[in-house]
Parts: sequence; structure tokens; C-alpha cells
Amino acid sequence: MRVLIFDSGLGGLSILKALAMTWPTLTYRYLCDFAYSPYGDKSFADLSKRVTWLFTSLPPHSFDLCIVACNTASTQILELLRKLLATPVIGVVPGIKPASEQSKTRVFGVLATPATIRGSYLKNLIDHHGQDCHILQHGSLALVRMAEAKLSGEPIDHALVEKEAKALSQQPLGEQMDIVVLGCTHFPFLVDELTKFLPKVDFYDPAFAIAKRLGSFLPIPPPHKQDSRDVWSTTNLSKQQIKIFRQWGFDKFHTLERGHRG
Ligand code: DGL
Repeated sequence: MRVLIFDSGLGGLSILKALAMTWPTLTYRYLCDFAYSPYGDKSFADLSKRVTWLFTSLPPHSFDLCIVACNTASTQILELLRKLLATPVIGVVPGIKPASEQSKTRVFGVLATPATIRGSYLKNLIDHHGQDCHILQHGSLALVRMAEAKLSGEPIDHALVEKEAKALSQQPLGEQMDIVVLGCTHFPFLVDELTKFLPKVDFYDPAFAIAKRLGSFLPIPPPHKQDSRDVWSTTNLSKQQIKIFRQWGFDKFHTLERGHRG
């Protein structure tokens, strides 16, 4: 069974980690849109157009299930993708429900992209699952860029991490915050850095919950047939990016261009 992981960039690898540990016999494929990233400052209309083009540019029948490993895309265009694709689609959205079940202080935070923070999907999640909590929110594109840079081996700008962390913790009641929901799949790669400035919180990473959800789509026992592990990107991948994808088991690389199919 071929599971396609989709994100603007490398963030989806934080979900893949849990998927591959939980379901090692599946074939994972990856679709990323470096040419148009970050997604976190794009409008709904632009993202809809872009993602429609992206998925219709993939070779037909190249996956059996899609995981939208991107909170920004999931919170805005999950319905569009479900209509567009013939396969099941699993979205990744901020873990408001688990955080409100687990928070002891009833004060928790959400770190996500600006588009996720301002979107109505998050507001609805909070209305349904977070009513009895005080929820601090901060949208950051700087952290998306920093996670990409870290994965590419570039140095971390700790002053910038501090600024972004404090933008959350210095809000009213911030000192009572006991959980921070990682509402962007890039952010689990920065937990070590964030912990320095948010030492008292637990970080909620949805990856294992997504792996569990994937289980509900799998036959028992899960399929074993291995296939090529392709990456489709909208830029020519750099040597470093190819190295990273190879470390995660990918072995075939393709560039998607406007007007190009397959
Ligand atoms: N990793 C993505 C998310 O979960 C998108 C980050 C971006 O491209 O802005 O929101």
C-alpha cells in the first residue's frame, strides 16, 4: 500500500517518523511544494488553486491513501482534496481536543502558521473542544523557515526562537500554560530549541495519533508489498535535501513543473 505524505516542505517528515515506526511495511511517498512554500502566508483561494494543480500533476494512480501532513493545508482545503482525490485522505489539524483533555492548568498554547491561526477551522475546533480552557495562540512563519534551515544543516538563530516562544508565553496567563500544541508539522523539529524558552510545558505532537488513524484504513495484517519510494517536488531538490530524503528511505526523485505531467 502506497501512502502519500504531502506538505509544503520537509515538515511532513515529522509525521512520517511515527508512521514508519508504527507501520514499517507500507510504502511511503512524499509530495512537497518548495517552489510555493511557506504555505502559512497564502490565501485560501491561492492555496486551493495551487494544490489542485499539484495533485493533478502527479502521475495517475501513484498512491492509495494521502496524508495531508500540513496543518495549514488541512485546515483550509481538506474538503477540496477529499473531492479531488479518489483515495482516502487523512488531515493533520491542531490538537485542541487532546490538549484540552490533558491540560491540568486549563491554560494551553497553540503554535501554528499565521494562516492556521487566523482560519475559521481553528476557531471551530476551539469552540467545540476548548471552551473551558484559556488558549494562547501565536502564528509564526519564522519557525517554519527555521525548521527547514535546521534540517538543511544551517545554524539555529536562538534569539529568533526566543522571540517566537515569548510571543506565546508572554501573553496574559502565559505563565500558567502547561501544554503547547504543535500546530504545524515543521515545529516538532524545533522542540529542543523551544524547550529552552518554554521549559515548563509539554509539547503536543500529533504524529502518533495520525499513525493510529492510519491504522483504521489498513487491512489486518497490513500489506507488505514494497514499491519505489518516490518524492515529487516542485523544485529540483538540493543535494542536502536528497540526502535527507534518502535517510528517510526515499529512493526516486521527480520534479513537477507547470504544464508537466508525470
Ligand atoms: N508544515 C506546514 C503546516 O503544518 C506548513 C508550513 C508552511 O508552509 O507555512 O502548517
